[in-house]
Amino acid sequence: MADLDDIREGKSYGVGVAQASDGFYLKGSNNLDWGMKDRLSRIFNPATGKSVMLAFDHGFIMGPTSGVERIDLTITPLIEYADCLMCARGVLRALVPPTSRKPVCLRADAGSTILTELNHNVVIDIQDAVKLNASAIAVMVAIGDQSTEAETVANLYNAVDAGLAVGIPVMGVTAVGKDMARDARYFGLASRVCAENGANIVKTYYTEGFEKVVACCPVPIVIAGGKKLPELEALELAYMAIQSGAAGVDMGRNVFQSDKPAAMIQAVSAVVHKNMKPADAFQMFNDLK
Ligand code: 5RP
Repeated sequence: MADLDDIREGKSYGVGVAQASDGFYLKGSNNLDWGMKDRLSRIFNPATGKSVMLAFDHGFIMGPTSGVERIDLTITPLIEYADCLMCARGVLRALVPPTSRKPVCLRADAGSTILTELNHNVVIDIQDAVKLNASAIAVMVAIGDQSTEAETVANLYNAVDAGLAVGIPVMGVTAVGKDMARDARYFGLASRVCAENGANIVKTYYTEGFEKVVACCPVPIVIAGGKKLPELEALELAYMAIQSGAAGVDMGRNVFQSDKPAAMIQAVSAVVHKNMKPADAFQMFNDLK
């Protein structure tokens, strides 16, 4: 029963003070619904606008590649340093502690492996993403691939519809077209196509001229790390991407295949969130080692 006595009259109405109506801090996201913004805020730190996503979804097409043979032994110790976890639902349910309290970008397409033709994929039921409390879902698009481009763009389009219905943002993941030059023109086109089809985040690859890729993509871009590089080079890659306007990294092999993955993810985080120069971040990596 609500109290009926001592009801205090409101008196601080702030008459004459305009109600705060700040824009949302992420590029292209101001017109999204509250749930979408809430989820994006879990992924991208509102203080910096950036994110270090730890990708360990590789097994869904590659199997137990180096560094993800035993997620519990190699990835779990890194979770505390990541802003967001990117993985497939099987690994999430089986191995990621639900007590981690980290946002998850759920790999939401499935259907092919490296043993066959890639990207004839379907998108998982959005209700499963809801059950898993995903903060975003990730869907691959194969721009420029004759046999799968249309199918994968349709996957993205349908995933965006499904995500909009439940307030879950979609990350478009640009696959590298076999026959296309991996340059700013290609990644700019692929990123823009993802955004035009409704992706709320785009994941692509760093390349020379990346500032143009970022400038003409209306939503935040994060970069994949790609194949394992020496640590200093991987930190330089992250640095150049951030300086070109990327909103973060979604890095896997350059973290979990490092000799010292925990030191590496902390150094990457310093580059992403603190604009630390690569040489200083490399020093940090060596000190943490
Ligand atoms: C592939 C992916 C991977 O998660 C992505 O490539 C990130 O991992 P890495 O930094 O090892 O490239 O989305 O589609």
